[in-house]
Amino acid sequence: MPGIWAVIVAAGRGRRFGSPFPKQYTLLGQESILSLTLNKFSRHRLIDGILVVVHPEDIELFHQSCPDFSASVRLATGGDTRQESVFNGLKALEQDPPSSVLIHDAARPFIKADVITRLIEKAASGEASIAATPVVDSLKFSTGMIIEKNVNRDGLWQAQTPQAFPYEMILSAHRQASDRNDFTDDAAVAEYAGHPISLVESGRENIKITTPDDLILAKNMIKQTDTNG
Ligand code: CTP
Ligand code: MG
Repeated sequence: MPGIWAVIVAAGRGRRFGSPFPKQYTLLGQESILSLTLNKFSRHRLIDGILVVVHPEDIELFHQSCPDFSASVRLATGGDTRQESVFNGLKALEQDPPSSVLIHDAARPFIKADVITRLIEKAASGEASIAATPVVDSLKFSTGMIIEKNVNRDGLWQAQTPQAFPYEMILSAHRQASDRNDFTDDAAVAEYAGHPISLVESGRENIKITTPDDLILAKNMIKQTDTNG
């Protein structure tokens, strides 16, 4: 299979979103969030294949909400944490390994094609890299509801996905990290395994739909793209 594969993690339960079924299956305009995300990768000329990590109870929901992708994507089973879901997805590609993978959250349907391209270029040259955006708000540290400290935002970035890696690099990093279960992204797993990671600047539109408020924002963003092309 050598080539570039997207691993889309879609096995979360969406607790903060709080709908009766996982948020990635919610409609945003005509399509589910997951289907919109899958389109971003299937339409990209440099992506050779897509693997979707799905919760075992959601298989039917997946086929109903992503009919265009039922036949064309590979499926793997999710785990209890995002870290486990990614590891399962990577292991599912082991038989015929791709050269590089882009690991992406199903809940980020606004990823731009040029960011995907820049991440692929880095991975193709053997580098690990992640989509990220500079922090714009002022930051405060507090353990209760009283500010204990101002935090200088200089040099701080918000990590997004996709996160792109040579396949063997990230698979072995996940093996090393599998005694722990607290890594919230794959850059943290790669850092734990000692790899340097580059930043690829992405826009603030690449939100992760996490709460019901994010869905309102996302619906407005979809309307804008419908009107402006
Ligand atoms: N994810 C996954 N497997 C898990 C947990 C998360 O595949 N066990 C995926 C989610 O489906 C999502 C992405 O990882 O696309 C980012 O996770 P997050 O936004 O936290 O989604 P959920 O875990 O579903 O939401 P919550 O944390 O609010 O329950
Ligand atoms: Mg989560």
